[in-house]
Amino acid sequence: MKVTFLGHAGFQVKTGGKTLIFDPFISPNPAAAHIEVDALAADYMLLSHAHGDHIADVESIVKRTNAKIIASYEVGLYFEAKGLMNYHPMNAGGKWSFDFGTVKCVKAVHSSVFPDGSAGGNPLGFVVKSADATFYYSGDTALTYDMKLIPNEYGYKLTHAFLCMGDNFTMGVEDALIAASFIDCDTIIGMHFDTFGYIKIDHEAAIKKFADKGKRLILMNIGETIDI
Ligand code: NI
Ligand code: MN
Repeated sequence: MKVTFLGHAGFQVKTGGKTLIFDPFISPNPAAAHIEVDALAADYMLLSHAHGDHIADVESIVKRTNAKIIASYEVGLYFEAKGLMNYHPMNAGGKWSFDFGTVKCVKAVHSSVFPDGSAGGNPLGFVVKSADATFYYSGDTALTYDMKLIPNEYGYKLTHAFLCMGDNFTMGVEDALIAASFIDCDTIIGMHFDTFGYIKIDHEAAIKKFADKGKRLILMNIGETIDI
């Protein structure tokens, strides 16, 4: 599958013959000024929670592409009220088969309120299984023992995972490394780092920490696309 980093926790993922966008926060991010929001393709828009740094460009991308929003029931209702009618509501523990593969919603330990104060439901992580990849997208979360369910009880053999690791609001690098072990995954794409002063990380030190445990940490440049 092809992964393009859109900055912060935002990714465009091409898998199962479809194009998915996760948590777009592009236009308010000066480091992502070179990303053309108006040119991004999307068939689906997966949203982990309601915080502004995860939904900034949802309306403009969905209005243009009519991408189907996959998110918590409350996040879906919020965008429905803004005229975005094409959504599939889910919640923690739920799984659904889409035409690109299955999405299982897993627990994230975080909060979820829209910038205007509207309720955003519970935050979610996603496990996506398509023909060419099986991956976990953590959303914003603390480290939690529940991550062990993904390989041990649900039986997912992950090809890779997107893990938040900027610390302060979410897991930091050390906790993300433990998470990588909990989910039994050796290839990790980092997210939720460097965007704000609170979440700056030392790239070389982080990559070395993962390598010392036999794991590969990929910290993509914004706009970069990799085949994974
Ligand atoms: Ni958040
Ligand atoms: Mn966030």
